[in-house]
Amino acid sequence: MGAPTSFEATLQSVQSPEFIEFIWHSINTPACQIAMISMILHVANYNITARYEYGTHNFTKWIGPKAIYFYAVYLVLSALVRDHFIHLAVAPNAGTFILFPATIATGLGAFCFVAGALLNLWTLKSLGVKGMYNGDSFGFLFDAPVTDGPYQYMSDPQYVGTTLSLVGTAIYYQSIIGYILAADMYIIFWVSVMFFEGPHMNRIYSEKDKKKIE
Ligand SMILES: *[C@@H]1O[C@H](CO)[C@@H](O)[C@H](O)[C@H]1NC(C)=O
Repeated sequence: MGAPTSFEATLQSVQSPEFIEFIWHSINTPACQIAMISMILHVANYNITARYEYGTHNFTKWIGPKAIYFYAVYLVLSALVRDHFIHLAVAPNAGTFILFPATIATGLGAFCFVAGALLNLWTLKSLGVKGMYNGDSFGFLFDAPVTDGPYQYMSDPQYVGTTLSLVGTAIYYQSIIGYILAADMYIIFWVSVMFFEGPHMNRIYSEKDKKKIE
């Protein structure tokens, strides 16, 4: 083995074979893998439950018309569990990938973290609770796609915001696992949007249009 346990990031060092070994070694730790699994489970959780509700309307049957609000709380808790495991992986890994002087890392990391959180709040303001938390699967459909707020600039702002906050965490702790998890988070969201959420939403809205025509 003998992989280094921390890395000073320079143009030369990140091109060395040791750097690949270092990343591989970091991924191969239980804390990093648990965090990755918790990220996948969170995304699977909201995709599966949204499809389940769309197909059966059982949450609405069991809980009533306010089901979407309980569901929103459930998804927020699910995200907090994910963030807990991310924190358990990243905080003890502090100082393993030094990109910035310490004071800059603290300031820039905190800035990115807060900027990501604000982007998520701005998205919430545009979508509302129902729009943000799979309301379309509960029968709360938009008449037209949302184009205001952050949607003027990007198509999936909540994922950009969540990833940016995680990049901020990685910078703050100067943690290689933080950077790995941020990249992984973005890939997982992208896969979810491309192959699960996008097709599900298209189906919901095309069935709505069909009903209108009938
Ligand atoms: C949910 O609803 C469907 C019909 O809408 C039903 O067949 C099913 O048994 C219900 N219960 C569960 C636990 O899925």
